[in-house]
Amino acid sequence: MSLDGRLAIVTGGASGIGAGICEMLARAGALVVVADIDGAGAAARAEALLADGHRAALLQVDLADEASILAGCRAVFAAHGAPWLLVNNAGLQSRELLLEGSAAHWDAIVAVNARGAFLMTRECGRAMAGAKAGGRIVNVASAALIGSLIMGLSAYTASKGAMLGLSMASALELAPHAITVNTVLPGGVGTPGAINAGGGSVPAEGPTRRAPLLGRCEPADIAAAVLFFASPAARFVTNQVLAVDAGWSLS
Ligand SMILES: NC(=O)c1ccc[n+]([C@@H]2O[C@H](COP(=O)([O-])OP(=O)(O)OC[C@H]3O[C@@H](n4cnc5c(N)ncnc54)[C@H](O)[C@@H]3O)[C@@H](O)[C@H]2O)c1
Repeated sequence: MSLDGRLAIVTGGASGIGAGICEMLARAGALVVVADIDGAGAAARAEALLADGHRAALLQVDLADEASILAGCRAVFAAHGAPWLLVNNAGLQSRELLLEGSAAHWDAIVAVNARGAFLMTRECGRAMAGAKAGGRIVNVASAALIGSLIMGLSAYTASKGAMLGLSMASALELAPHAITVNTVLPGGVGTPGAINAGGGSVPAEGPTRRAPLLGRCEPADIAAAVLFFASPAARFVTNQVLAVDAGWSLS
């Protein structure tokens, strides 16, 4: 499972699941680039990793802005070379009821969750292919795709469906470059993003309220699945989907 000497970029690494992924990858030996729109949060996360004796850097990037992604990736590649691993984890989780939904809300969610993941995949995929050393891409979608829903998640779930489609298509196109692409579907994790998700007036009702068989997932549970897909052990694993939902599907 060692990622010793590997460069990993984790979007949304400043908070919640992304922060847990950064920590686990750093412990596995990677140089972790904490990439987030929240520059102060990313800096704090990178500093905490460095203070623990790990290797880390930070990238402030707005995934809704192609120019920001291009400039950010260019800066990372110039400083550290091509990445071995990209984790498309950043995501917006705000809710709006379907019949009251706005195009602006839909566009804002899809811009980060799907379009941002596409642009990061393209930029990092180009760098990985150019380096001719293979690579890994792990996409963090959601157990919403297997029915773990509450009201108000039409834009969110659609964006995660787009991400899953992106995973499949990029697994095919990147295989000739020895780059694998896999998807993790987290169940509910008590992160800042989940707790403070916009749409407070939308009733939090739906199947996702069922208690999972094994308890509530922590960021480290999701990070462990990411580490597996990123590791040498998974070199022949691509186009796979792994739900980490604490048994929610059976509860
Ligand atoms: N928490 C859950 O229950 C849960 C369940 C299933 C899937 N997920 C998915 O896991 C991922 C992480 O979620 P989380 O709960 O840790 O959320 P979070 O809000 O705690 O963290 C998300 C991070 O993404 C960053 N981000 C948001 N917009 C950005 C942008 N435009 N550019 C760059 N960074 C941006 C935020 O600043 C934040 O640091 C998301 O994709 C989410 O959809 C979460």
